[in-house]
Amino acid sequence: MASKLHLITYGCQMNEYDSERVAGLLREREYELTDDEREADVILVNTCAIREKAEDKVYSRLGQLKELKAARPDLVIGVMGCMAQLQQEQVRRRAPSVDLVFGSPAIARVGELVERARRERRPILDTAEAPLVKITAKPASADRLKAFVTVMEGCEKHCTFCVVPRTRGRERSHSPESIVAEVEGLVAEGCREVTLLGQTVNAYGRDLTPLTDLAELFQRVNDVAGLARIRFTTSNPYNLTPKLIRAMRDVPKVCEWFHLPLQSGSDQILEAMNRGYTRARYLELVDALRQAEPALAFSTDIIVGFPGETEADFAATVETVEQVGYDNVFVFRYSRRPGTPAADMPNQVDEAVKADRNRRLLTVVERVTGARSGLLAGRTMEVLVDGTSRKSAGELSGRTRCNRVVNFDGQGQVALGDVVPVLVTEVLPHSLRGALATPEEAVCSSR
Ligand code: 5AD
Repeated sequence: MASKLHLITYGCQMNEYDSERVAGLLREREYELTDDEREADVILVNTCAIREKAEDKVYSRLGQLKELKAARPDLVIGVMGCMAQLQQEQVRRRAPSVDLVFGSPAIARVGELVERARRERRPILDTAEAPLVKITAKPASADRLKAFVTVMEGCEKHCTFCVVPRTRGRERSHSPESIVAEVEGLVAEGCREVTLLGQTVNAYGRDLTPLTDLAELFQRVNDVAGLARIRFTTSNPYNLTPKLIRAMRDVPKVCEWFHLPLQSGSDQILEAMNRGYTRARYLELVDALRQAEPALAFSTDIIVGFPGETEADFAATVETVEQVGYDNVFVFRYSRRPGTPAADMPNQVDEAVKADRNRRLLTVVERVTGARSGLLAGRTMEVLVDGTSRKSAGELSGRTRCNRVVNFDGQGQVALGDVVPVLVTEVLPHSLRGALATPEEAVCSSR
């Protein structure tokens, strides 16, 4: 009988991608995925170290799993991902029921590691550096309309708050050929949209020979027949070149949605974060991007309560959010990460102050994003149909190119995976409602 694997994934899209690969690799070894942890022979927890809260969640989950293990000593529990890479010893100490700890470089060897942990019945640690490989195992859920594709690993930006350079290592790009092959494989299984992933995705290719970049990769991925849309994340303003801006405008399948972390609107704080740009430079880039592509929607990440952040610094952030007019904003309270420069900076901000700024910023965000949503009423937009509405099964659901969820009545007329024009009839707080439009209507309206 096949062994059963239960996967628990925390953190970013890259982790989701890695979990899919792990499931794919283990499926080649006759492991079947199960949603029920109680029937699993192997449980793998893919972890995130970006903020302390993410780590706390993992430890509390591992605490729950300890009881399963007590009842079934044969169960193998593994911890992978960023926490595994960073704190293998602590994981072993705080969660002694864990049998296997491995970092992202070891993912390609997951089959062998799991087998060893089951056979040898002693803790196995593998967080050694290893060359980057593109795993060709098919993802576990191959029949999806949308998929992530990792194009590069690691980050060398060394933002002072961030643990990623220590968890994911140096920047290493996958070859364009291997990426295109992966996209072709996904499209052959029915995939219509890919999101190209990298911690600093717009630094793609500068470590490759011959040298290449994200703009050139867009073109190559665009040429994959049957693919409808390309998204990419996460970009750093520092590496944003005019060539990339032109490619975002000119490569047809690249969507009008751009995640461009601001982190702070204060020049002093940006400097202390080592972000490599000023607020004025960021706004200049936003202008250039909007000029190239007026329909572009922006989303961003912001940290409140970075060491030394004053009320004036915070006010500058609020003002920048209003100026840019984001479609979506993720707000985080600064979290001290051991081993990062900001963790040792003086003037750490009180948790109560962080919570207060977090709350105040979210109020502004709601107003700003709400205003952006309002602009969409009455527009006919291209929607990739990807499911049924969460609230009413009779309705179809999809996303616009600018990444908005639209629910509309189109049962029997369109199929999952279709790209159709939808007239936005109602703007709700977290989604749009629409009506199927005729293709002629779509031609004369904005994307
Ligand atoms: N504390 C709070 N937020 C952080 N981020 C990264 N490091 C930290 C930290 N130490 C946020 C940044 C980044 C997002 C993925 O997580 O905003 O863009």
